[in-house]
Amino acid sequence: MAGSLIVGNWKMNGLGDSVAEIAAIAGSGRPDLWVAPPFTLIDRAVIVAAGAVSIGGQDCHAKVSGAHTGCVSAAMLADLGAGFVIVGHSERRADMHETDADVRAKALAGQAAGLQIIVCVGETEAQRDAGTAEAVVGAQLAGSLPDSLDGLVVAYEPVWAIGTGRTPTPEDVAAIHGFIRGQLQARYGLNGRGVRILYGGSVKPENAALLLGQANVGGALVGGASLTATSFLGIAAAA
Ligand code: PGA
Repeated sequence: MAGSLIVGNWKMNGLGDSVAEIAAIAGSGRPDLWVAPPFTLIDRAVIVAAGAVSIGGQDCHAKVSGAHTGCVSAAMLADLGAGFVIVGHSERRADMHETDADVRAKALAGQAAGLQIIVCVGETEAQRDAGTAEAVVGAQLAGSLPDSLDGLVVAYEPVWAIGTGRTPTPEDVAAIHGFIRGQLQARYGLNGRGVRILYGGSVKPENAALLLGQANVGGALVGGASLTATSFLGIAAAA
């Protein structure tokens, strides 16, 4: 849909020559394209993006600085020229055992650094099969979201759709995005209406128009298909 925000999450992919993809994305002239390369490429990505694409981090630490070997703070991302940070991705919730409280603390750190924040939620396949998708997502929202809407974007990513080539039906996407909208309005009042809710999980150029056409879907969070400018811009063109 016009005005959709398309965010690329490169995960642990990309060496120096990959910034050429970001240069190509920036050269498209299409607004509302964001890319989160690995930390190692952020400074180079910011340079080639030249303000045309917002560059962000895939995670941040909850503290500004300190004795946390190997970690990167939101303030460090902002210092590099990043515009946003993704927090609570399901791979971090699973691999790094991040809890809702951890995710919320990172979201607050991102806000404090002046970044836009993408807070990710989503159920596993077993949870969906058990009929608890809304309960799981509702609990993640309650525990992970900050009290202020400053720079907040929510991403719904069913874990079973990430990197699998499978997606929920358009009806299921519309249903759970409607549920998330209701939760946002219950928490933030009328302002909850304006929060952008991204869909993520196996978004490709071929299915983007259908997924992005659903009510309360304000854009996409894209993994695999964001790694080349061709497929990423294919999604943007369908949006
Ligand atoms: P995918 O990943 O597009 O490769 O399914 C989405 C994500 O994890 O953000």
